[in-house]
Amino acid sequence: MLTNDILFHEEFSKLKNYHHHANHIYDHVVRVAYISYAISKVLGFDYVSAARGGLLHDFFLYDWRERKANDTSRSLHGKEHPYIALENARKYFDISALEEDIIVKHMFPKTHAMPRYKESLVVSLSDKLSAIFEYLQQSTLMISILLRRRRTIQVI
Ligand SMILES: [Fe+2]
Ligand SMILES: [Fe+2]
Repeated sequence: MLTNDILFHEEFSKLKNYHHHANHIYDHVVRVAYISYAISKVLGFDYVSAARGGLLHDFFLYDWRERKANDTSRSLHGKEHPYIALENARKYFDISALEEDIIVKHMFPKTHAMPRYKESLVVSLSDKLSAIFEYLQQSTLMISILLRRRRTIQVI
């Protein structure tokens, strides 16, 4: 497969240890990569780079909530994590200029630099769609837990 070297890499697999939205970062980046791949394939874009960039866009190995709570200078997680992901991606994989752009610009428009490639825009959009889906998934789960608890209390 086009992304197996990343998906099964020991260091990349550590993303499963860090909570993100409804699950862990690994789950999130796989979703982003798949949506980016599908959109890019339909539109005739570079779907391999879109998938690889999608996987690597949040390649940071820490819990951002803990990091933010413990270090006030780390309060700009939204703006700095693309650069941390880029550093890790360069360290463990061979990445192209297009994949670098995808990683660094995925937080656009929060980070002001304009994506240089159409695939960068696709990944940025897929990231936002995934985040919305994951938050809704989390909310639905919490509501069902609360309703179940309420029913249990009523039965008791
Ligand atoms: Fe991100
Ligand atoms: Fe993301």
